[in-house]
This record gives sequence, structure tokens and C-alpha cells, in this order.
Amino acid sequence: MDKISIRGGTPISGTIEISGAKNAALPLMAASLLTDEPLLLTNIPKLSDIASMTELLSQLGVSVTLDAPRNMKLDAKKIASTTAPYDIVRKMRASVLVLGPLVARAGEAHVSLPGGCAIGTRPIDFHLKGLEAMGADILLEDGYVHVKAPKGLTGTTFTFPTISVTGTENLLMAAALAKGQTRLVNAAREPEVVDLANCLNAMGAKISGIGTDTLVIEGVDRLHGTTHHVISDRIEAGTYAMAAAITGGTVLLKGAHLSLIPIVAALLTRAGVTIEEKEEGLLVTGSPNRLEGVDVMTEPFPGFATDLQAQWMALMSLATGASLITETIFENRFMHVPELCRMGANIVIHGSSALVRGVPQLKGAPVMATDLRASVSLVLAGLAAEGTTVISRVYHLDRGYEELDEKLRACGAHIERLK
Ligand code: UD1
Repeated sequence: MDKISIRGGTPISGTIEISGAKNAALPLMAASLLTDEPLLLTNIPKLSDIASMTELLSQLGVSVTLDAPRNMKLDAKKIASTTAPYDIVRKMRASVLVLGPLVARAGEAHVSLPGGCAIGTRPIDFHLKGLEAMGADILLEDGYVHVKAPKGLTGTTFTFPTISVTGTENLLMAAALAKGQTRLVNAAREPEVVDLANCLNAMGAKISGIGTDTLVIEGVDRLHGTTHHVISDRIEAGTYAMAAAITGGTVLLKGAHLSLIPIVAALLTRAGVTIEEKEEGLLVTGSPNRLEGVDVMTEPFPGFATDLQAQWMALMSLATGASLITETIFENRFMHVPELCRMGANIVIHGSSALVRGVPQLKGAPVMATDLRASVSLVLAGLAAEGTTVISRVYHLDRGYEELDEKLRACGAHIERLK
């Protein structure tokens, strides 16, 4: 299993091209199931989660081809299977995104329940309740959820008890082909949801309220193919902004936009980082002094993303003073804490909050990645630490960061992948 070795202490400087957003690309790929015409997606990132979704869609009968390295053509002329098997779903929870499109187009779906997840229980009950409200029958059996709507789905009003990103995306795709009007209340407003809604409209859907917490969908009989450019990855952009910040370097994040990370940019600025919006992207410059501790609470968009919480904690580990980091989205998302502490960080957890007392220096150590975002927080800590950090289980990183080691090495980081 690959490991990553980092010799810390060098400010990273240069240009990093931000890839297409994984969390936008995955639902967009699933949307191909809604039409018998080809969907062309450009700016697809090269990630193992994208490979998993490709494998799943291929099993369902979708022909997936790459016209160019980042241009993916998905053609679901015929649905060959309506089952998302355990083997793929356990590797990637986002497999559940095929549920809504399959029920809408084929009248049924059989999706393995995702099961345990490193960052909490992460149920899919809202996805199921929404489909049930649209007239589907739901049966849980043998670890699978069987959803059937042989006569099609019917529009309804569904209020999410808590904001759910993939829940909103699943119901949005299902509603696009339902009979009549669907209103999704307390819907997610994440840019990835907006990107999906825009693509669905380009495919002939009738969605309004895009970007607000109430989506109104007038169902149509059929959708057609289109070409759609995937938005840039705000989590990747935020992560590399913090890499510049934690090492005191200067990085141009090519393709990044302030509108995608408004709160992160504001909080980084408050901590002492300079962020300028340029024509090509965001120019991030670390501070010559130690950063200041800034409290953070994770929230749905436009609030501070839970997917950047671990990275912020690495940053705050080296700040002056203390910072209180509160996680409100997932109940078990502090697995990076003991690993950061092994590198000399001073962090104590109180329920859903972590109190980080900044230390002047972190020290390299062997550490273990536990999930995608936790592992990249260890990379950030390693870039700033004195000595060498070796991170094991880096397959987590490959799920969501395209060519992370290459991108950082090009900016002067001493980072190596050990095969
Ligand atoms: C998506 C993102 C993930 C991000 C998360 C929160 C993708 C592929 N993944 O995950 O990177 O960390 O949003 O921004 O886009 N919940 C329920 N029942 C449900 C659905 C959700 O109780 O049916 C709860 C979850 O346990 C969690 C909260 O709602 O506490 C939000 O989860 P949700 O937004 O659904 O996360 P994902 O869509 O899985």
C-alpha cells in the first residue's frame, strides 16, 4: 500500500491548477441514467471515486468513454441492470446517487445500504422518505433497499428534516421525470447541487429556485443529452489555500473563485492570510508572522464546509492563541485529532467541539490516514512540520485529490510517494 513521505519546513510557492469538483462530477455522472441520449461532461477530475462511479454505471449498462483525458461521454441508451451492488457501494457512499435516476427512468432500483462509515452513521433515510412521498414502495431486505415505482413517480412537497446534499441531488433527479410538480423544501444550496440543477435544465428539466433552499421542479416526460462543464473543486481550492497559509508560501489557485469559498476566504483573512481575486484564479499569500487563532463552526453552504474542518484544524495547530472548532454535520469527524497530536499539536475534544491551543512548531511523525479529508490535514501538518512525516493508507487521498503529490512538488514541497 502506498505511503506519502513529506519533509516539512519549505514554503510552497507557485501555481496549482484546481481540478473539477468530485462532488459535482459524481451526481452529474449519475444524471446520465435519466436519458437515452449521450451526456458529455468536461473538466472531469482523475480520481478513484470517479473510477468507482464509472464501474457502477458500466454495470448498469451505461457506456462510459473518455474523448479526451477530462472529457467523459456517458451514454445510457438502455438500462441493463437496476442494482448497485455492495462491493461498489461500500467503497463509495456516493453510489447511492444512482437511486433517484434509476427509479425515475426504469421504475425500480436495488441499492446496497452503505453501512458503516468512518465519519459517522450517515443514513439515507431522507432519500428514501422523499421517494416514498413521490409514490415509490420501499423494502429493506438482505442489506439492500429495493425501491419500486412501476407506474412512475408523482410530484409532491418534501421537506428535508436536515439539509442533505446527496439527498437533495437524488430527489432532484427523481423529480425531473416525475408527473407534476415537486417542491423540495430545506434543500441543500451547495454549488454542486446548483451545478447539477443547471445541467438537468440543459437536458430539458424544468427546475426553478436554483441556489435557494426551495427547489421547484415541473416534471417532464423525457430528458435529452447535453454538454456540461463541471465546476471547480472548492474543497481542493480551500485545502491548497491552507497549504500556502500553513507554510507561509504564495500560491496561485488557477480556476478557483471567491464565490465558491466565501467564508473560508474571510476566515483565512482574519487569521492573517492575504487572498486576492485575479483573472486566472485566487492568489493566496501566507503571513510572515504566526497566524491568529480563529474559531470555526461547520455548516451547510454558504457556511464553513465540514470537508475543510480537518484542514483548518491543522492550520490552527500552529496559530497563536486558541481556536474552537465545532463540527455540526457529522458526529465522528475528529479522527485526525490523535494523529495531529502525535505530531505535537495540543488539541482536546469536548463533545462536538475541539479546542486547539496553537503550538510554535509541529514535529514530523509516522501517522495514519483515516478518511479523505483527515488524511489531507496530515499532509498540511507534514508540510509545516520539522522533520519527516510518513502518512500511510493514502488511498483515501486518491479518492478526492487529483495528483496531490505532483501538484505540491511542483510548488517546491518535498513530498514523495513510496510505492
Ligand atoms: C455530501 C458530500 C460530502 C460532505 C457532505 C456534507 C458528496 C458526494 N458528498 O455528503 O463530501 O461532507 O455532503 O457537506 O457530495 N443525513 C441523514 N439522513 C439522510 C441523509 C443525511 O440523517 O438521509 C444526515 C447525515 O448523517 C449528516 C447530514 O445529514 O449528519 C448531512 O449529510 P449529507 O449532506 O447527506 O452528506 P452527503 O450527501 O452524504
